[in-house]
Amino acid sequence: SDELRTLLLSRIHDVPDYPRPGVVFKDITPLLADPAAFGALTDALAALCRAYRADKVVGLEARGFILAAPVAVSAGVGFVPVRKAGKLPGATLRQAYDLEYGTAEIELHADALRPGDRVLVIDDVLATGGTAEASLHLIRRAGAEVAGVAVLLELGFLDGRQRLQASLDGAPLEALTTV
Ligand code: PRP
Ligand code: MG
Repeated sequence: SDELRTLLLSRIHDVPDYPRPGVVFKDITPLLADPAAFGALTDALAALCRAYRADKVVGLEARGFILAAPVAVSAGVGFVPVRKAGKLPGATLRQAYDLEYGTAEIELHADALRPGDRVLVIDDVLATGGTAEASLHLIRRAGAEVAGVAVLLELGFLDGRQRLQASLDGAPLEALTTV
């Protein structure tokens, strides 16, 4: 709803020239500190989880963890972390993705998902789409199905939605707010 969008946007603060000159950082910590806004966000994401008939929620380290964990509890589904490489103790699947400069790697426990699982990916921001795209590859490699991707904020001018299109393979991408 417009009301929810207005509330969420009012709690995401612009920080100019962070982490580098010319970049405007989207700071979600005011939203996390406001129980009404964080609660409304969690309710909206949990409703998507039910609408997409997801049976697992994947959170993307680190900020995606904060949003996805309460959604998993609220929707009554399991939480599965996708972590930056080297943090998960068990056997993992690893996926590289491009950054502005260089590459990064994320991992998923190889046994965290089962064939037939329907997975909702949650993150705070969709920027270039590189992180989300890599997570979709991991989910498919694990044999599970992508139920959808949900983000708090889409940076429309970076065309992440377009980059994700092929790997979504028809699954929905829901952005609760867009700038
Ligand atoms: C940020 C953000 C998203 C990602 C979006 O995470 O939280 O996960 O970048 O960018 P992309 O669409 O271009 O991939 P970051 O890796 O900075 O770290 P954090 O979540 O651990 O703070
Ligand atoms: Mg992140």
